[in-house]
Amino acid sequence: MALHSTVRRITTHVLNEMKLKGEKITMLTAYDFSMARLLDQAGIDVILVGDSASNVMAGFETTLPITLDNMIYHAASVMRGVKRSLVVVDLPFGTYQGDSKEALMSAIRIMKETNASAVKLEGGEEIVESVKRILSAGIPVMGHLGLTPQAIHKFGTYVVRARDKEEADKLKNDALILAEAGCFGIVLEKIPASLAGEVTRSVKIPVIGIGAGGEVDGQVLVLHDMLGITQEFSPRFLRRYHNLQMEIKGAVQNYIEDVRSRNFPNEKEQY
Ligand code: KIV
Repeated sequence: MALHSTVRRITTHVLNEMKLKGEKITMLTAYDFSMARLLDQAGIDVILVGDSASNVMAGFETTLPITLDNMIYHAASVMRGVKRSLVVVDLPFGTYQGDSKEALMSAIRIMKETNASAVKLEGGEEIVESVKRILSAGIPVMGHLGLTPQAIHKFGTYVVRARDKEEADKLKNDALILAEAGCFGIVLEKIPASLAGEVTRSVKIPVIGIGAGGEVDGQVLVLHDMLGITQEFSPRFLRRYHNLQMEIKGAVQNYIEDVRSRNFPNEKEQY
């Protein structure tokens, strides 16, 4: 029987066991109570309260503006809807890169004020001191390599990362450093599938891909992208499972029409 269907709660240990058994791990983002509850009830393994909230919830162009207070608000809302999934929360830009003590304080605020289970940080060797310090407080940490949207101004574009040998070698080394430091998992974003496969086989911890092919231990997508709520974003790796923007606009247009034509409310819909 599949491990994910036998456990009452998904923990980092369950994810590790899933990797060992070759069971794929499922992960999606959520930022609010209602969506998180649906994802949890549908049986998703991991919910990521991603700093992509900066884009899809707040409408910013990048993930940089979102604050720690904003992330805590989203994560606490998500946690109120979740019974079974493991919830991981992104540490936002500027709350962990400079100083490992600040990184620890940021992670502690997330754990104390949201009741989530883990945090995620972008970067490799450069942030390993922060990773270690957070881990030393007993807080599980997930890494994030490849396309790291918080560094968009360094790279200048959202194209596929680590196509050249130098960047691929650094990424492989960073993955080993994060695994060695004690991360419970790593997200690999938008890198060649063969490189992601190599990294996945080189570490014992689960590797979750987004635009990183099928040779990884699991997949993550941004909920609003896979449901077809976002409109402009259409990278090759994105599979849309619904066209909710059409459905939502259609429902709203029907409502407008009904109100204007006095068809809503009808006799039964009033007191
Ligand atoms: O913020 C986010 O949604 C993420 C995913 C793209 C992995 O980090």
